Amino acid sequence: MNRILLIIIFIIPFHLSGQEELDGKTLFRNKCKACHNIDQRLVGPALKNIHEKRDSTWLFNFINGSQAMIEAGDTAAVALFSEYNQILMPNQNLSVPEFSSIMSYIRSESQPKAVSDNPIARPEPSPVAANIQLQFDNYFFWIPFTVFVILFIIVLYYMTFVTDMAQGVKE
Ligand code: HEC
Repeated sequence: MNRILLIIIFIIPFHLSGQEELDGKTLFRNKCKACHNIDQRLVGPALKNIHEKRDSTWLFNFINGSQAMIEAGDTAAVALFSEYNQILMPNQNLSVPEFSSIMSYIRSESQPKAVSDNPIARPEPSPVAANIQLQFDNYFFWIPFTVFVILFIIVLYYMTFVTDMAQGVKE
């Protein structure tokens, strides 16, 4: 019984870590969308296919410290800065995983969309898959789930305790 309890306690953190999974779309919406769009120029340039125009080291450095690059005289950075009316892009302090999930979001959004009047080319997304996706970013799912898990541990612990007591009585 005690062994089962231990196994469950070890498994839970792995389960809950899914909650912090980095979602490129959300990151983009929270940090970049105010100034950038994939297809259109806003305050900053359109980011469509940016991964083909610049290499990823350049992108990472620019996103996290464009000012330093402009000051260092990086040709592309200086050209952008003057093209965009000398508006400085704020440094984003992205971690490497955050950077890669934003980049994969931009890459997937850059792909040509399927032609809308051809139903064969656009299979409906599976409602089951869509639901699972929703559940995993949804705090209304995670909060009750966590409460449930905690209650479950308490019950298990109590059961272990009772079983041990019963065994103690028998002995
Ligand atoms: C406050 C507005 C603002 C925000 C927020 C912002 N940017 Fe920018 N971004 C700019 C501007 C303005 C430029 C043009 C360069 C310049 O003026 O220095 C730019 C340029 C860029 C470039 C270079 C584009 C090219 O053509 O080479 C990339 C890449 C970029 N931004 C990515 C991002 C990402 C990713 C985020 C979010 C994590 C972000 N930006 C958030 C304003 C912003």
